Parts: sequence; C-alpha cells; structure tokens
Amino acid sequence: MSIPTITLHDGLTLPAIGFGTYALNGNAGVQAITSAIDNGYRLIDTAYNYENEGTVGEAVRRSSISREELIITSKLPGRYQTYDKVVTAIQESLYRADLDYYDLYLIHWPNPKQDHYVEAWQALIDAKKWGLIRSIGVCNFLPEHLERLENETGVKPSINQIELHPFFNQEEQRIFNDEHEIKTESWSPLAKANEIVQNETLQKIADEHNKTISQVVLRWHHQLGAIPIPKSASPKRQLENLSIFDFSLSDAEMGMIAELTRPDGRLNDQDPAEYEEF
Ligand SMILES: NC(=O)c1ccc[n+]([C@@H]2O[C@H](COP(=O)([O-])OP(=O)(O)OC[C@H]3O[C@@H](n4cnc5c(N)ncnc54)[C@H](OP(=O)(O)O)[C@@H]3O)[C@@H](O)[C@H]2O)c1
Repeated sequence: MSIPTITLHDGLTLPAIGFGTYALNGNAGVQAITSAIDNGYRLIDTAYNYENEGTVGEAVRRSSISREELIITSKLPGRYQTYDKVVTAIQESLYRADLDYYDLYLIHWPNPKQDHYVEAWQALIDAKKWGLIRSIGVCNFLPEHLERLENETGVKPSINQIELHPFFNQEEQRIFNDEHEIKTESWSPLAKANEIVQNETLQKIADEHNKTISQVVLRWHHQLGAIPIPKSASPKRQLENLSIFDFSLSDAEMGMIAELTRPDGRLNDQDPAEYEEF
C-alpha cells in the first residue's frame, strides 16, 4: 500500500497519515504498535504524558522496519515548560524510548495562563540544534500563541496538532496554519469513533464509495490537507484506516461533511485559551 508523503517547511518528509498511540501501553500496546508498523504506518504519535514512550520504543525494535524509515513524535508535558525542565524532559523521553532522537517533538498544550510556552519553544529550538529532535512543532496552539512564537524567536512550528473531526472542523485554525506554512495534524480524527459511526450523512457517503465511515472521515482529513493520526488496537481496523488513497470525495460530499461541524463539537470541551494540561 503506497502512502503519499508531505514535506514540512523545515524539510522533514512524513507520511500523509499516522498512528495514534494514546492508551496503548505495556505488552498489549507493544503488540498493537508493532502490528501498526508492520501494517504500513510509518508516523507514530506518542507523548511523555501517555506513559508509553517505552512501549513505542520496544515496538519499533520488534517491528520489521528500520528506525530511519520511521517518523516518531513525542510531546512535552505542561509541567516542564521552563527552559531547563524542557531539556531534561526531552532527554528523559529519549531514555524512556531508548532512542537517540525524535523526528518530531511538540509542545503538548500552550497553557497560556502559565505563560512559559515561548521559553519552552526556545528550548525546543536549541534541542533541535543539538540533534535531539529533527523537527519541532506544537499542539493545540491558537493563532495568538503561534504569532508569539514566530515574533519572539523567529522560528515557526512545522506542525500544529489540533482536535479535528467532522463535528469540530477547525476551519479558521486550518486556514491560519496554511497561511503560515504550518502543517495541520488532526488528533481524535475519528472523534473516537462513537457518535460518528452512526452518522447518517457519513453512512450515505460511505455506501456511495463502498467504504466505511472511518475511511470516509480519514479521506476527508486528507483532502482538507490535514494529517490524521487514528488510533486502533485492532490490526484489521489499522489496515482499514490506511486504505483511503484509492478514492476521492467530491466537492459536494466535502460540503456535506462541512455541515456536520458545530461550535460545541469538541469532544471534551478543551478550549486551548482556557484549558490547561500538565
Ligand atoms: N495533542 C493532543 O492534545 C492529543 C489529544 C488526543 C489525542 N491525541 C493523539 O491522537 C491520537 C488519535 O486520537 P484518539 O485516540 O483520541 O481517537 P481516534 O483516533 O479518533 O479514535 C480512536 C477510537 O476509534 C476506534 N477506531 C479506530 N479505527 C476504527 C475503525 N476503522 N472503525 C471503528 N472504530 C475505530 C478505536 O478503537 P480500537 O482501538 O478498538 O480499534 C478507538 O476507540 C491519539 O491516540 C493520540 O496519539 C493527541
């Protein structure tokens, strides 16, 4: 199965779809992530706070794919946003996974009330220079947060990973990211596959293409120009989620999916202007 690639503004090339690992821990997690890599995923998303960087590292070693072919992402927790703590946290992330470098390292949340995210960003810039990270980005950053990073350090993120699914389609944030050459990556791209798998509009479109609702939704992300990172513990659903590059949604179908968004469509009401995670 051939997966298209995307090149970030700093030159890192990554696949157009990745694999989420939230809640994949321990031996069951190693098996699920090894299976995902063997099934074709090359972009793996973990975080310090998922407590599974070690699980990801073990899966990488057990998989049939060499380290150089993989793009491994981790994320900085909110409690470590002061400069020295960032550097130590990145080192600890690497030790946990037993890796020499991460391909991508992201600030997990801006936590704007703490006001340390610019300092954290400067530490990521330096960690990249030291070779600990190949590309640096953020998650859950609003336009005002992104503007401060660029204005105060001269370096803009390669990626902004945000909550994005048909019920919360983030049109304004996506446009802002595009205008600043920041690639949008979609977390909870299937909205956790609850309400979404019963949606009649999506079912109609899926039937039209002889695809599943999950495949239609992941294809929709791709056509929006975003990189979805669906999580699945099931090898069958892992493969299903990769099979999105052999069909296209029409403009009319993209429009029907755009209608599903709603202002309160966030899964857990996590507005980055207010919500903080440590
Ligand atoms: N940066 C952030 O703040 C942030 C926040 C949340 C998540 N994330 C990242 O984004 C990743 C993905 O988000 P997520 O895990 O919250 O949700 P998701 O990928 O939208 O949905 C995962 C759920 O959907 C099910 N599923 C997957 N494929 C399916 C299919 N084809 N048919 C039916 N059900 C399917 C999975 O069950 P099975 O496992 O049983 O298949 C699982 O319960 C996370 O794992 C994490 O890496 C980042």
